[in-house]
Amino acid sequence: MSETSQSAAPQTLSIRRPDDWHVHLRDGEMLQAVVNHTARQFARAIVMPNLRPPITSVIQAREYRSRILEALQPDRKERFTPLMTAYLTETIAPAELEQGFGEGVFTAAKLYPAGATTNSDAGVRDLRHISAVLETMERIGMPLLIHGEVTDPAVDIFDREAVFIEEHLRPLLQRHPQLKVVFEHITTAEAAAFVAEGPSNLAATITPHHLHINRNSLFQGGLRPDFYCLPVAKRERHRLALRAAATSGNPKFFLGTDSAPHPRGAKESACGCAGIYNAPYAIESYAQVFDEEGALDRLEGFASEFGPRFYGLPLNEQRITLQRKETEVPGLMELSNGTQTPTVLVPFHAGEVLHWQLAA
Ligand code: NCD
Ligand code: ZN
Repeated sequence: MSETSQSAAPQTLSIRRPDDWHVHLRDGEMLQAVVNHTARQFARAIVMPNLRPPITSVIQAREYRSRILEALQPDRKERFTPLMTAYLTETIAPAELEQGFGEGVFTAAKLYPAGATTNSDAGVRDLRHISAVLETMERIGMPLLIHGEVTDPAVDIFDREAVFIEEHLRPLLQRHPQLKVVFEHITTAEAAAFVAEGPSNLAATITPHHLHINRNSLFQGGLRPDFYCLPVAKRERHRLALRAAATSGNPKFFLGTDSAPHPRGAKESACGCAGIYNAPYAIESYAQVFDEEGALDRLEGFASEFGPRFYGLPLNEQRITLQRKETEVPGLMELSNGTQTPTVLVPFHAGEVLHWQLAA
């Protein structure tokens, strides 16, 4: 490239305020501890329903939404909208979904294959058991959000997403050709290719951590529970395929953090929980990836435009500014939660320096 055509690296970036199309905000003390991190950056968030008990009714979703709004700090109350989801069980009534969607309480429904991840026991064992639910969703245009992993213990954990595509997702899309489907938190080159080649009613979210780490990170110098999430990070070639997909400008790929907080003690345990807490610096983390890939001009599409277009929602009018500025991520966060004892969480990028910062 000639010197004249090479523009200086931008120092600031202004984009429409982004949305997070997949987040776990939890409930109770954890909700109090984490929700304002998400609301600092995002205008809206698709809130996962895998509470105990799961959110399976309109009334539960309404009440959960109120608790989320209640937990917001005053300056964020006006600005942040939680978008609620229904947790699909084999017994949920199609009418419940239709009512919730019609009333604007449910934005989407989440499919957890039973046993696939945290609080998924009440999930679906056989997709054919919920065909009436899926037909209703297809008819009313309600998006289906899929945790795409098979649960068969005979399938290697690193292959569970790729196997899910062939065994379940491809047939599902054939049975329900109009159903809007988001293949959540994709982790493989196979998933990225499947989505890119698929119909326009199929999209995918990509997390910051799957753009930054590969499976080596889980074992770097010892067992590293803070890098363990589901679907588990895969080989380097998959991370590179995800980076290419996220920064491609293809509107089928958009932002979903899958921020999934677990208290430090539940992560650092003989049987540590799956989930990475990336909410505190999520947009900075994504900005760094797009910068490294020379694709900063494509961050806005991925973070702020493709998601709402897929969901059929308006784009945010507010804007945010990102500055090229070193941001030290703390090794540990002690977060107030309304009790005497703070919630202790290890954030993603703990102890690292990120090169972007969201201006206040
Ligand atoms: C999530 C959680 O903790 O709720 N964990 C995770 O590793 N992502 C569940 C999920 O989305 O799979
Ligand atoms: Zn999740």
